[in-house]
Amino acid sequence: MGTYAVTGAASGMGRASAERLRSDGHTVVGVDLRDVEVVADLSTPTGRTAAATEVLERAGGRLDGAVCAAGLGGIPGRDRLVQQVNFFGVVELLEAWRPTLAAAGNSKVVVFGSNSVTLTPMVPERAVRALLDRDADGALRVVGRFGKRSAPFAYASSKLAVTRWARRAAISPEWAGAGIRVNVLAPGIIATPLLEEQIARGQKEAVEGLPVPIGGRGRPADVGEWVAFMLSPAADFLCGSVIFLDGGSDAYFRTDDW
Ligand code: NAI
Repeated sequence: MGTYAVTGAASGMGRASAERLRSDGHTVVGVDLRDVEVVADLSTPTGRTAAATEVLERAGGRLDGAVCAAGLGGIPGRDRLVQQVNFFGVVELLEAWRPTLAAAGNSKVVVFGSNSVTLTPMVPERAVRALLDRDADGALRVVGRFGKRSAPFAYASSKLAVTRWARRAAISPEWAGAGIRVNVLAPGIIATPLLEEQIARGQKEAVEGLPVPIGGRGRPADVGEWVAFMLSPAADFLCGSVIFLDGGSDAYFRTDDW
């Protein structure tokens, strides 16, 4: 049995992932703002450093994998938080855990992206580049130019940046070369508290108007199954992949874009 760090473990898909791993007998060290082993605020550098350190202490210095599910939806007035948690809250923790993941051998990481990276028209490339350059102020300035309409661009650029970071890491000597698999799970509309908040805060039409060819919403427990699979030996050959788990929305918009 392995030891896994799961961020966002108090709710939604992170919680479902943690429950699924525990039901298999694995040890999970959850990170979130409440109700978990490591209570930390991933929106600040000090919170991220504290979380990274405390997870390693609680894990007894061994990590077989990590699931980075903590994140915020694109809601007006939250651009900075969205970029801090969705991008920096993933990459800074994973970078801090990399030596421990490498030492475990054949470890695996699942980063939560989003199908918004392909569904949002004109994701601002300069914001993505700024995040990848760790220029938080620059990224905020770029999305700020969209004024009151900035929220979806802040969200999509944070998810595109974290996806690119994951794919770059996945194939690098420091990660692939050290036996660490890094992959991205890109959910579509999944029935979680985050989605309910989006609907309650003015995005009902956007959520309900999104084409989902098979209809309905995804279930967090099913996402937990995918996470467990992506951490299992069956995923040994999976590296740098982006798995769209979205009922067909990405295929709908990009049918022949391959
Ligand atoms: P959720 O809101 O149910 O869970 C997210 C968790 O992240 C919460 O427990 C929250 O407390 C935690 N979190 C937020 N800010 C934090 C902070 N500053 N420090 C520590 N923890 C913090 O959301 P859900 O839907 O389970 O989302 C999981 C991931 O999937 C997120 O990264 C989200 O962006 C992504 N996603 C969700 C979709 C959906 O339809 N629900 C669609 C596509 C992507």
